[in-house]
Amino acid sequence: MTARHLLSIAEFGAAGVQRVLDLTDHMVAVNQRPNPKVPALRGRTVCNLFFEDSTRTRLSFETAAKRLSADVMTFSVGSSSVNKGESLRDTIETVAAMGVDAFVIRHRSSGAPWQVTRWTEASIINGGDGWHAHPTQALLDAYTVRGALGRGGAGTTFDGVRVAIVGDIKHSRVARSNVEVFCALGADVTLVAPRTLLPPELPTGVEVTSDLDAVIDEIDVLYLLRMQNERISDAGAPKGAMGTLVPTIREYSARFALTPERARRLGEHALVMHPGPMNRGVEIQVDPAELPGALITRQVANGVAVRMAVLFDLLAGPTTTMTGLVSEEATA
Ligand code: NCD
Repeated sequence: MTARHLLSIAEFGAAGVQRVLDLTDHMVAVNQRPNPKVPALRGRTVCNLFFEDSTRTRLSFETAAKRLSADVMTFSVGSSSVNKGESLRDTIETVAAMGVDAFVIRHRSSGAPWQVTRWTEASIINGGDGWHAHPTQALLDAYTVRGALGRGGAGTTFDGVRVAIVGDIKHSRVARSNVEVFCALGADVTLVAPRTLLPPELPTGVEVTSDLDAVIDEIDVLYLLRMQNERISDAGAPKGAMGTLVPTIREYSARFALTPERARRLGEHALVMHPGPMNRGVEIQVDPAELPGALITRQVANGVAVRMAVLFDLLAGPTTTMTGLVSEEATA
């Protein structure tokens, strides 16, 4: 059973997560070839609709679609008729009329990708909506942890793995989706944040603390979040500042950043992750290149393979098998 859309991890389901993680192994193999391209999605069209800034997500979806031989349209709001007041619905309907099989959507409004499913027959992939969800980031993070822990293969579980997600949880779609994916895989998840940066409703099944030092020695995966200045400003606080949510950056960093001292306290086996872009000196005060367990570059590299797996899962159709494609190279 394949899904039609990837909107959130919860809706995609645990079986969908396993399917994508397993498919990603094949995509990593494709990416290691001298010609990293397969004809899997030849004739399909993927449209990237990014209404919000992005570097990694947009470029990796574009690369992923091309490596599967799909045609790619990329839409940046800066040069589109959205600036002339065209609505999201009109934009979608206009682009869909050109023949699109999947839209990847990033939008500042939570729920926008769900809305869009009502206006087109195409598959919708959520590339990040407001504070709400970022499911492909969560999948690439789960894949990265699975690789680093050597827990690959069918039926991956993270039983007994202690994950701490640290920082601005309240404004973070990455945190919400990662809680869903890590919990679905059986990890023990702890949210670490000042009370002002926690959402009003906490996800079930997670621990919460505002004392990073109390948990740092026990962590297997330290997942640092970016301080989301632009979203805090959206919420009415003074622009560029943490407003009333955090007294000062310095105080925030003293309690929640990965400092050299905390890096020393982390277990040798501990993995350190960040979705990027990093605020160096705020949530991370060490050079990740010098941390043996840092996976930040691997997260970006895996982003392409995971997004290939997602596009393949949604678009390839039941008759295209990955195993057949691995031995086949695109000639185009
Ligand atoms: C994240 C995002 O945009 O939600 N970045 C990303 O996709 N790699 C995280 C962030 O902006 O902090």
